[in-house]
Amino acid sequence: MKKSGDLFYPSTEVKKRAWLKSRAIYKQAEANPQKMWATLALELDWIKKWRKVYVGTPPHFSWFAGAKSNITINCLDRHLKLRKNKVALIWEPENPAEPKRILTYYDLYRDVSRLAGALKKMGVKKGDRVGIYLPMIPEVVVSMLACARIGAVHSVVFSAFSSNALQVRLQDSQAKLLITADGYYRRGKVIELKKGADDGLDGTAVKKVIVVKRAGNQVPWNEGRDFWYHDVTKDEADSIGAQPMDSEDPLFILYTSGSTGKPKGCVHVCGGYMVQAYATDKWIFDINDEDIFWSTADIGWVTGHTYSCYGPLLNGATFLIFEGLPDWPNTDRWAQVIDKYGVTTFYTAPTVIRMFMKTGTDSLKPYRLNTLQVIASVGEPISEKAWLWYFNEIGKGKCPLLDTWWQTETGGIIVTSLAGLGPFKPAFTGLPFPGVRVRIVDDDGKECKAGKEGNLVLLPPFTPSLLRGIYNNEKKYLDTYWSAYNNKMYFSGDLGYKDKNGLIRVVGRADDQIKVAGHRLTTGEMESALAKNLSVAECAIVGVADDIKGEVPVVFVVSKSDIPADQLKADVIRIIREEIGPIASPKEVFIVKDLPKTRSGKIMRRLLRKTLSKEEMGDLSTLANPESVQQIQDTVQGSGPEQKS
Ligand code: WTA
Repeated sequence: MKKSGDLFYPSTEVKKRAWLKSRAIYKQAEANPQKMWATLALELDWIKKWRKVYVGTPPHFSWFAGAKSNITINCLDRHLKLRKNKVALIWEPENPAEPKRILTYYDLYRDVSRLAGALKKMGVKKGDRVGIYLPMIPEVVVSMLACARIGAVHSVVFSAFSSNALQVRLQDSQAKLLITADGYYRRGKVIELKKGADDGLDGTAVKKVIVVKRAGNQVPWNEGRDFWYHDVTKDEADSIGAQPMDSEDPLFILYTSGSTGKPKGCVHVCGGYMVQAYATDKWIFDINDEDIFWSTADIGWVTGHTYSCYGPLLNGATFLIFEGLPDWPNTDRWAQVIDKYGVTTFYTAPTVIRMFMKTGTDSLKPYRLNTLQVIASVGEPISEKAWLWYFNEIGKGKCPLLDTWWQTETGGIIVTSLAGLGPFKPAFTGLPFPGVRVRIVDDDGKECKAGKEGNLVLLPPFTPSLLRGIYNNEKKYLDTYWSAYNNKMYFSGDLGYKDKNGLIRVVGRADDQIKVAGHRLTTGEMESALAKNLSVAECAIVGVADDIKGEVPVVFVVSKSDIPADQLKADVIRIIREEIGPIASPKEVFIVKDLPKTRSGKIMRRLLRKTLSKEEMGDLSTLANPESVQQIQDTVQGSGPEQKS
């Protein structure tokens, strides 16, 4: 049994199958990152080779400059020689009684070609944006690849996001076509996705909609605009050429939380992203031909993009996608899936781990989980307790546990120890990936000593898959990531520290973004939704700790009308669910008289958080309205004019 504070190294068996056998790579890569990335890039097929590996002056830079490629050539065509009939993708439906689906590399190649042909006929050209609003079904992978095949830029929107959230993202990306489905299953019930998609199309540039038949539910139909997926693809050719793409041409846009109201469209490019997805999947997880890779993240998040689609395919691996939730119909579902398919590599999030810790190990007893070789975590800091439980109970003390730190912006994993090299330390994320210069610095950019908390930054040449911009918003790109250190370093927005061995622990965000069950949300987007739709004078949302979900939103509102408290609270919850989605549902809504503010009018969310955690408030004399704090404390503790909802 591993205990707190232990350092753990991979076993001889794990080392044997590792791609990297020596720590020397770290030194070599630090001395010349370009060389390391170029060596990895040469393992892939290129239509035309690069002139320079890295050029530019931050905040603008290029990787593999001048090269031409298409990511789908490396995901599909390359494998037709060696692995034509190898299983590429296994799909496990939500209902365990429904048959699974299996797509070989050839199946995927053919389906991608057919959809790519259909998209072309429907007028989609290189550089056009295509929205994808699909559940976890094989067609979501086919759709992303079909876009990439013809050079269209995909923008996947999480299928559990509301119509309004879809609309905002489609408007921003100016997508001209949307791919969605009739419906899908959630806890045994049909979710009417097409209906939701229709509501999200108002005021967007979407002229055509392709609909995958999944749940067979009745759908509203707009003749001339809507097309069934099976109709548009049935007469298309089984093979279509790949559009040559410049390394710096955009591959996809993925929206993520910003510190203000509107989500940011992170732009990722073809060449650098391809190399990083390939290399990180290979070296970190030690992906081999016989592996079954399962990342539980939805494809609507970056983890789904890189490790439930591109990474495994670039490596010719077999991967699993799962339509359902890990605890439905019962809490043993994920263990069932691992045993059913002999999953070797399991990648999940701390929220899932905490849920299973709470359920207890008894439900896992009927399962062997003996095919697992590598287990991993992403999305939030993992506590020492959760780390040890995952390592001992799921990994049986023999699987390397990789805690991986990265962001939508970085496109691929940036900090983690490698499966075959270690070391692994409970609650620590590990070392920067070879060739990525990660530092922990103070506000002046000076490196922090071991044990001292600071800002997590990347130094040039950064990493090939780092975002190249925020779609249509250069100012936000510069302000968010580059202004803190005068364009010299990329600031991740995260805080962390190093231990004496250089292992990094990421402790949380430096801003007001929160993680709810691993989903990155901005409190600003929720606040704008409330301000727009409700008669409130002011509102502020903060994240508070939750045993399972990590964090949950709590809302403070100052009402400006005489609407009854219960009604107002119900409205707040309804609006957030409608505008963002059920995952953002607030845990509590407090109606207060005033919010604590600085003299310049900035709401002090930090103090609101303290009222909830019952911490010492500290000096309040710099506030414009210090008396508001006591009132809020009374309300939160239930002695104020309003009780908590
Ligand atoms: C947080 C997910 C601690 C961090 C891939 C980051 C983590 C944000 C970890 C990005 C980790 C991610 N330990 N914190 N291992 N991994 N985070 O864009 O705050 O959904 O900035 O990408 O999640 O979330 P995103």
